[in-house]
Amino acid sequence: MADASNRSGAIDTVMHEERLFPPPAEFAAQARIASFEAYEKLWNEVAADPEAYWERVGREELHWFEPFTQTLRWNEPYAEWFVGGKTNASYNCLDKHLDEGHGDRTAILWEGEPGDTRKLSYADLHKQVCKFANALRSLGVEAGDRVSIYMPMTPELVVAMLGCARIGAVHSVIFAGFSAEAIAERNNDAQAVAIITADAGWRRGKALPLKQTVDEALKKSSTVKHCIVLDRVNEAVHWQPGRDHWWHDLMRDASEECPATPLDSEAPLFILYTSGSTGKPKGILHTTAGYNLWAKKTFQWVFDHRADDVYWCTADCGWITGHSYITYGPLSAGATCVMYEGAPNHPDEARFWEIIERYKVTLFYTAPTAIRAFIKWGDEHVEKHDLSSLRVLGTVGEGINPQAWMWYHTKIGGERCPIVDTWWQTETGGVMMSPLPGAIATKPGSCTKPLPGVIPKIIAEDGTECGPDQGGMLTIAHPWPGMLRGIWGDKERYQEVYWSKVKGMYLAGDNARCDRDGYYWIMGRIDDVLNVSGHRLSTIEIESALVSHPAVAEAAAVGRPHELKGEAVAVFVTVKGCEPSEELRKELKLHVRKEIGALAQPDDIRFTNTLPKTRSGKIMRRLLRDIAAGREAVGDTTTLEDYSVLASLRQDEE
Ligand code: WTA
Repeated sequence: MADASNRSGAIDTVMHEERLFPPPAEFAAQARIASFEAYEKLWNEVAADPEAYWERVGREELHWFEPFTQTLRWNEPYAEWFVGGKTNASYNCLDKHLDEGHGDRTAILWEGEPGDTRKLSYADLHKQVCKFANALRSLGVEAGDRVSIYMPMTPELVVAMLGCARIGAVHSVIFAGFSAEAIAERNNDAQAVAIITADAGWRRGKALPLKQTVDEALKKSSTVKHCIVLDRVNEAVHWQPGRDHWWHDLMRDASEECPATPLDSEAPLFILYTSGSTGKPKGILHTTAGYNLWAKKTFQWVFDHRADDVYWCTADCGWITGHSYITYGPLSAGATCVMYEGAPNHPDEARFWEIIERYKVTLFYTAPTAIRAFIKWGDEHVEKHDLSSLRVLGTVGEGINPQAWMWYHTKIGGERCPIVDTWWQTETGGVMMSPLPGAIATKPGSCTKPLPGVIPKIIAEDGTECGPDQGGMLTIAHPWPGMLRGIWGDKERYQEVYWSKVKGMYLAGDNARCDRDGYYWIMGRIDDVLNVSGHRLSTIEIESALVSHPAVAEAAAVGRPHELKGEAVAVFVTVKGCEPSEELRKELKLHVRKEIGALAQPDDIRFTNTLPKTRSGKIMRRLLRDIAAGREAVGDTTTLEDYSVLASLRQDEE
């Protein structure tokens, strides 16, 4: 059987979760999918003939410059959806609403961290995107070119994404917390021709420099010819004439006329780098029509969206959640979206609740790590604000422990809002499993049931399907429109990572179990990927960063349970040519920060004489996880340790 243990230990608490929360009657009465029977009927209809369903929905939901002639061409593991059709994601997000007479509808209600605000209608956003698309063209950017984006959460970040999509350029958004090294690695892998950034962005009252980091990255990114800089903070920046261009200069000269380019359904829309089980991040590739449709349809299903909703997703566009549920999904659906630039605790811990009250947010989507922080900060911050506008609450990024779920349900949802715990991945393009809020009763800690079009199967190590409550590898049985199309520049890795372990199935990389009611419970990764505050980190990436330091001989990184982050990064290091010290510990933390970014900085560093290894030389990660979690008694952790005794005691277990 697969290793079904959960590193964070959360499974111990959800294993016995029996509480069931049916959709509130008032909510169900007006929901799009208003009963379990309706959900089941739809799920069965799609499962019986996915192509017939997606053919119809594809035609209805997207704008087609040229209709497609084949719904799915499946040459495992390569899918092509809506073959022969021509569409454009920027058109679907903008022009379509203008065509339908909704140009005045508010698209973005933006709030900067210092408190500055902006409101953009669909017509305003359309105009900005057209101008920016022309600005890109004026620099010679063409369809198929890759463009990196390293920006703060401003409306211009969405404009940049849609501007690329409008002319068929492929964006690669890099989260603004990554280091210069990480940016350069991504620029080079994608062979980006341009990068879009800002002077800086606001974070907890401080200007976080971005252009400076990009300057550093561009020293090692030979393909990048242009750098577009948004003036967000009015910081002095270094300038390289010819290469660097102010956003406002380009926009001033750009025409507002820019018809969306009709693009092939399978034209690449974006690349988004994510961590896998090797040291090199994977450039997950999504294409135009299938991804766009999946983002739109899942947004409508999961949030039961209607025209008068005010929707707020607190993610950053640097992650897939921001791509699918800030940009492409809600904007295709014509939603009014709140967008916030900064930290949840600036100027104080009530900021999110203040925003919800101010904009009368009805649909709210955040992460369990944020919810755990809110719980710690105290209920008084919540109680000061009127949250009665809320009607659906969502979570994403990691499992939510039942205690946090109950707090979300009572304190934020006032016991009247369904909670949608959405399981999905960068690779899946959009939500795969989640309650439909008007149809599926929830159980705290379970992502409940698959969406229509998703056929999950849990498979044991020997390849057989698991029975109820048996943990195993989570796989998906049939292609779906939003699935990744590959890993940028690495055909073999795509096949090997996702399609080789279980025949004919997409391997998600998570362990899960399905209970007797057909509810799914995610139990953590099967590979060496950590989930720190909902962010995916590769242990090998962290280890590679550490061994690139001259004082490090060997390093092993593991996750350990952490009250707020879910998992914290614990590393074990053997040194060479020097003695372990407090200074070295600090230096190594900074080194990882410099190599990858602040989000990967180890929480604990332990020095050891040797890393515990099996007889065949494999690092005993399970033993290290136990030590890191304090489940295995060891001595003083500030000095050099020797785990070889523990290792020899454990040899037979690994
Ligand atoms: C984890 C984020 C439990 C999971 C959208 C997955 C979850 C990885 C959930 C993908 C959830 C995401 N319950 N685990 N509701 N949502 N995960 O690519 O391990 O950043 O494989 O996509 O996060 O992370 P990614």
